[in-house]
Amino acid sequence: MTTHPRKGAGAGPANDRSLRILFVASECAPWVKTGGLADVVAALPPALVAAGLDVRVCLPFYRSLRPEVGEAPPVATVLGALVRKARLPSGIIAYLIDAPWLFGRDGGPYQDAEGRDWPDNAQRFGLFAHAAAVLASDETPLLWRPDIFHGHDWQAGLGPLWLKTGLPKPAPSVMTIHNLAFQGLFPPETAEALRLPPGVFAVEGAEFYGRLSFLKAGLHYADVLTTVSPTYAQEIQGEGQGCGLHGLLTRRRNDLTGIVNGIDDRVWDPATDPLIPARYDRDRLAGKAVNKEAVQRRFDLAADPGRPLFTMVGRLTWQKGVDLVAEVADRLVRAGGQLVVLGTGERGLEDGLRALAHRHRGAVSVRIGFDEALAHEMEAGADIFLMPSRFEPCGLNQMYSQRYGTPPVARATGGIADTVDGVGPGDCEGSGFLFDEATGQALWESIERALGAYRAPACWRRIMETGMRKDFSWAASAARYRALYHTLVREGEARAPA
Ligand code: ADP
Ligand code: GLC
Repeated sequence: MTTHPRKGAGAGPANDRSLRILFVASECAPWVKTGGLADVVAALPPALVAAGLDVRVCLPFYRSLRPEVGEAPPVATVLGALVRKARLPSGIIAYLIDAPWLFGRDGGPYQDAEGRDWPDNAQRFGLFAHAAAVLASDETPLLWRPDIFHGHDWQAGLGPLWLKTGLPKPAPSVMTIHNLAFQGLFPPETAEALRLPPGVFAVEGAEFYGRLSFLKAGLHYADVLTTVSPTYAQEIQGEGQGCGLHGLLTRRRNDLTGIVNGIDDRVWDPATDPLIPARYDRDRLAGKAVNKEAVQRRFDLAADPGRPLFTMVGRLTWQKGVDLVAEVADRLVRAGGQLVVLGTGERGLEDGLRALAHRHRGAVSVRIGFDEALAHEMEAGADIFLMPSRFEPCGLNQMYSQRYGTPPVARATGGIADTVDGVGPGDCEGSGFLFDEATGQALWESIERALGAYRAPACWRRIMETGMRKDFSWAASAARYRALYHTLVREGEARAPA
């Protein structure tokens, strides 16, 4: 096959052209987003291109993408689906797997409008990952052939399985865990329905306690594993955070690296952000007060510059510790604070927050929904960002908030522990307030420390500035991915017959 990049001793792609990486994911901002995965899949490829790699992204062609993508001509067919080619706003090329019977419907990427999982998610992401794997093998109909398949989360998990067990001349694969708690578990007969190669539904394969696990497939068959922070890479090797996969991850610890996420600092920069009422930076902080008043007014709170404004943005789930915030809200209001929350998620948590807002009209306000612009306004307008996550593989909001001069009060877990410098008691050194126990009391004590610092303007300003000065750009992490890809390709070349 003439397009195969790894032919001929020593004439590997590293020597004669940029390495080609195919990102395979179910979300990519701004086209389709439910959480941080979309931000990472949007921002990491351009950073890798800047580091000298040739990166393209493979996504399902959801109906909601149609008005977004513009011209997206079909360039091939694979497994009965069209492959369309489009360009992301960043300039990165996207291959869209167009299977209308699976993706041509209204609703979210994983769920219908009522929040029920699509009943055919196994077929949807089974075909998607299989098609992407074909693109990274000798069977690809495309001329652009990747040197590496880089899958993200369970939706891409069957890709490495197909590459290892069912496709000719496969590219080596990387699997990145953004969240181990979502595994893509399906009944055992799914393996047959998806016509997976014989033998893969096994403990040493894709079987997980009697079910088919898309994520485990990825983690078992991929050549290299990464996750989105060094601390989470450690945590998931233990029973507490391992979600039943800690045994596998511990066995594969030498193949597992934690690389902390960056943020897209063109999208998240208070000095240039078009989505906020007033722009500001470290040296010109006046705009922040304007943004605070805008948030207070928008959420029907007293427009009082002196009252500390707390905010929380994110999925309203157990993971994010929303219940802990609800637990401390009364105390927070008694202490003079205001609270605004934006998010969607579990019905019970949403209802609890609504009740809270009702009880504390004028001091607590909640917006149930997904609103990108409002998320920016809240990061810019708040004084303190709350993020009491029970676990957090990386977390982006704590980085956004530091950048926006909104010190986080956050639980020291996963990527939070790696990206927030905790301010010690009675101190002004650091960029946020960290606590360990996942309890309302521990959160409250951390909030009290934050309030103490907030009431000492020079101290507060110093903490804000420390956060705003931090470098959360992707460059350093992109360099680590690049090194990983090169090692993987070199190892592949060393193994391949000359
Ligand atoms: P996770 O991926 O676990 O949800 P992250 O902190 O990594 O958490 O990323 C969440 C991303 O999604 C952030 O960009 C955040 O601003 C955004 N986000 C989450 N919920 C909402 C919402 N309701 N409205 C707007 N943006 C949201
Ligand atoms: C997941 C995690 C979050 C992480 C994001 C991007 O959704 O929950 O912590 O920041 O993926 O990697």
